[in-house]
Amino acid sequence: MLLEAQKIRADFPILKRQIGGKPLVYLDNAASSQKPQSVLLTMNAFYQVSYANIHRGVYTIAEEATELYEKARETVANFLNTKTHREIIFTRGTTEAINLVRFSWGRKNVQSGDEILLTEMEHHSNLVPWQLLAQEKGAKLKFIPFDSQGKLVLDQLDSLLTDKTKLVAMNFVSNTFGTINPVEKVIAKAHAKGIPVLLDAAQAVPHLTVDVQKLDCDFLAFSSHKMLGPTGIGVLYAKEKILEAMDPFLGGGEMIKEVHWDHSTWNDLPGKFEAGTQSIAEAVGLKAAIDYLKTIGLEKIHDHEQALARYTMEQFSEMKELTFYGPPPKDRCGLVAFNLQGIHPHDVAAVLDRSGICVRAGHHCTQPLHRKLGLEASVRASYYLYNTKEEVDLLIDALKETTRFFKK
Ligand SMILES: Cc1ncc(COP(=O)(O)O)c(C=O)c1O
Repeated sequence: MLLEAQKIRADFPILKRQIGGKPLVYLDNAASSQKPQSVLLTMNAFYQVSYANIHRGVYTIAEEATELYEKARETVANFLNTKTHREIIFTRGTTEAINLVRFSWGRKNVQSGDEILLTEMEHHSNLVPWQLLAQEKGAKLKFIPFDSQGKLVLDQLDSLLTDKTKLVAMNFVSNTFGTINPVEKVIAKAHAKGIPVLLDAAQAVPHLTVDVQKLDCDFLAFSSHKMLGPTGIGVLYAKEKILEAMDPFLGGGEMIKEVHWDHSTWNDLPGKFEAGTQSIAEAVGLKAAIDYLKTIGLEKIHDHEQALARYTMEQFSEMKELTFYGPPPKDRCGLVAFNLQGIHPHDVAAVLDRSGICVRAGHHCTQPLHRKLGLEASVRASYYLYNTKEEVDLLIDALKETTRFFKK
């Protein structure tokens, strides 16, 4: 079922913009999403009415700000169905959340000779931190391969999970193929061997219902800016018992209980992992974004985006000079990466911009994935709840025009 995208579009001020006299067609949602009026107004009102630092002041607006910040945490906890709000740590984004796990959990639990299992389709954010940890500790990275459809090959999973494997860290939804990965299957197999699993859910939480208790994942990371919220805030979910056993990440104010000249003790969760002044207005904005997503419904949003991806792929199939990547529509979220024969992705994106169409061109932070496909780069169109079939038609027309232009 398709959403009433026209009605939804009215909530997003930027979508009224024109580029060179043409309506803005924003198809780069996997990179970052646009913001509804409710998020902008909520953050503005917070600054105008209740802004102060949190957890410190005893005066009225400091208490209001603290309450709003903690309400945001509760909203995130409910959204993910966590056991307790203490399992929600605010970070700057997915990248910082994964690095928090690298430093606070990884340094303590990964030793020389140990293994960390990733997939071949990781975003650099869920690859480079583990390379750094592996180099530091003398550990080894292993990879679950993907097949020609951009789906994970799980045949070898049992042998990839060895008694040296200390962690599985994988993306929930691929930001290049769009594949919705069978994370439940991997979690069950890893847990059968006592191995914790971290999910990079940057492309999942904005588009799918994610229930951490049902998934039983040990860590999960995502960013607010890809789900209608502001930049500068993201979330690390981790099971309470694991967080309790982890060392602090950053040291400073707020994360302590008692400080002496020579040692300190740590705050209770989640404060132990939130050193210094946090992104307060951004947390308030993230709450407004989640409230907005909930009024539309994530199932409907996913169906809408998948229908747009299906339609895109149908159109692409008829263009002989176009190659696209990834699994069939039923196995993916709403994004499609592709190449036009003989035209560099940056040229494609630059020509599309002349029609007001925003797409991503490059390696999308998945260089090893592109290398395995024998590519340097690709173009990516990625959809969200406000995109329409008409916008896909504009993209298709502009791509046909691009091909004609370069063939002249
Ligand atoms: C799958 C995936 N992981 C991680 C990230 C990094 O997110 P951020 O830059 O918000 O930390 C992205 C962003 O593109 C992503 O798509």
